[in-house]
Amino acid sequence: MKRPLAYIAGTGRGLPAGVMTNHDFAALGIETTHDWIVERSGIHERRIARDGESTCSMAVEAARKAMDRASVTPGEVDAIILSTASPDRLLPSTAVDVQAALGATRAAAFDLSAACSGWLYGLTVAEGLLTAGSAETVVVIGSEKMSAILDWTDRSTCVLFGDGAGAAVVKRAKQHRGILSSFLRSDGTLADLLHRPHGGARTPLSEQVLRDRTHFVKMAGREVFKYAVRSMAEAADRALDGARLTGQDIDLLIPHQANVRIIEATAKHANIPIEKVFINVDRYGNTSSATIPIALDEAIESGRVHEGSTVLFVTFGAGFTWASMVVRF
Ligand code: UT7
Repeated sequence: MKRPLAYIAGTGRGLPAGVMTNHDFAALGIETTHDWIVERSGIHERRIARDGESTCSMAVEAARKAMDRASVTPGEVDAIILSTASPDRLLPSTAVDVQAALGATRAAAFDLSAACSGWLYGLTVAEGLLTAGSAETVVVIGSEKMSAILDWTDRSTCVLFGDGAGAAVVKRAKQHRGILSSFLRSDGTLADLLHRPHGGARTPLSEQVLRDRTHFVKMAGREVFKYAVRSMAEAADRALDGARLTGQDIDLLIPHQANVRIIEATAKHANIPIEKVFINVDRYGNTSSATIPIALDEAIESGRVHEGSTVLFVTFGAGFTWASMVVRF
């Protein structure tokens, strides 16, 4: 079948109001500086969920806005795919809580676990559901309450992440708008470089686990950095090849927002000038699978993505997983 088979009919985002700046770490006794964080990652501040804000509540806010913009009612939604590495509870999925809150009574709902790459994985799964005729309208959400799974005594991770959600309504393509290519990859031999070692079924939560803090995110930052640069370069090439385009045909690159240095390396490799790259990691930090849908929603709102724009998405995360996509709006 010839693409495009699916298009993005509307987007939305849900961000906590609470802002935490780099200077706020001092009050927590974390030995870091604003200058170190900015120089190594490009992050100035991030949002932190408070007062009952959850992965579900941020997802619902993002999904409602996306559905409004796509003029879709809850009863029209056939499937809800929620990408998250920070589910509100381990059973059942957070997606069913979102379904209940939206009142999307006809929808199949499930969580998707592919870490930072999850939202692009979700879009590709949505495209498959639409193409197979299993759905007409799919809501794909990335929502993360990273603050709940971080070790707030570990300066090498806690300064890098933030909370938030982004969503898109995906429908069957009309005319020439939609997903032109997509690329998904994983390498589980590298899983231990970015993970939560314990607290799952293999080593359930125990006093020992809590004492050792091994239920929190652990990351070998320098190694992850190397693989991220290499994998995002490969992913950019593969999505461009799949769409028979070059970097010069791209109006906007929306990369995963983990580190501004990784973003710059990806843009350079793809031959896309930095003016055509969307960057908001300075304001939100790394919100894992929510970074790309939040950035897309902001890019549409500010007019940087409009009808006719060709956009390249590229991401990388725990697993490792990496993915990319070219979409014409
Ligand atoms: O979204 C999933 C994918 N994740 C990523 O893509 C993240 C990839 N990794 C990175 O972005 C970078 O590796 C980091 C931002 C995590 C770290 O930057 P780096 O330039 O690779 O620094 P480093 O890990 O090599 O650490 C340099 C030094 C170390 O001290 P020594 O060993 O050189 O004495 C750290 O102990 O910086 C120290 N350090 C800190 N200093 C101040 C680590 N964290 C901090 C901190 N504040 N928060």
